Amino acid sequence: MERLDKFISSQTNYSRKDIKDLVKKKQVLVNGEVVLKSDIKVDNLVDKIVVCGEEIIFKKYVYLMLNKPKGYVSASFDKNDKTVIDLVPDIYKHRNLFPAGRLDKDTTGLMIITDDGEFAHNILAPNKHISKTYNVTIDIDMNEDMVLGFKNGVNLSDGECKSASLEITGKNTGIVILTEGRYHQIKRMFGCFGAKVVELERIKMGNFTLPSDLKQGDVREFTKEELESVRS
Ligand code: URA
Repeated sequence: MERLDKFISSQTNYSRKDIKDLVKKKQVLVNGEVVLKSDIKVDNLVDKIVVCGEEIIFKKYVYLMLNKPKGYVSASFDKNDKTVIDLVPDIYKHRNLFPAGRLDKDTTGLMIITDDGEFAHNILAPNKHISKTYNVTIDIDMNEDMVLGFKNGVNLSDGECKSASLEITGKNTGIVILTEGRYHQIKRMFGCFGAKVVELERIKMGNFTLPSDLKQGDVREFTKEELESVRS
């Protein structure tokens, strides 16, 4: 059991003061009854709580997918730049959301935003080997040396990379699959072959593919099944 005002403020953008005012205005119902005090105890799994005509469904955590556009940094706050959190709809703003993993400012594509630290840790931990798949365009022709080099483990300044897959899909385009996530990894890997990455888009995490109807800048919640596929 927990206080009604505490529960509502944990699930919405209403402050406790807002809730007090809404109670006064008879806008808060528990199991169909108008509530007279905002500090009564409720069971969020059993009681039906309605505020201004809208049922408040308890969610411990939220899991959002974003199709990241260029120009946004993968952080919760930044002094100079727009962050991926700026793209999250206001209804989630009361939560302590953060991006699970990073994409460079000029990289686009699939990003997970959540307030579940354990989940984020689990999908990012190097020993979990969750693969990340990227569409890449470089400034020179793709070649078989790159394919072999990626497979054997490119040597970067911070050590040898794990074996990665590069599939050539066009003159200067390819699909890269990584099982680790180092700083500027793909850019640095192609740099070892004298190539510059000109476009980079993450299209998959684990077995979950960026939905084709999720446009750049769009955010939506994962379904349970979709979230499972990230980890499988
Ligand atoms: N590799 C990069 O170089 N940049 C990214 O954003 C992701 C992978």
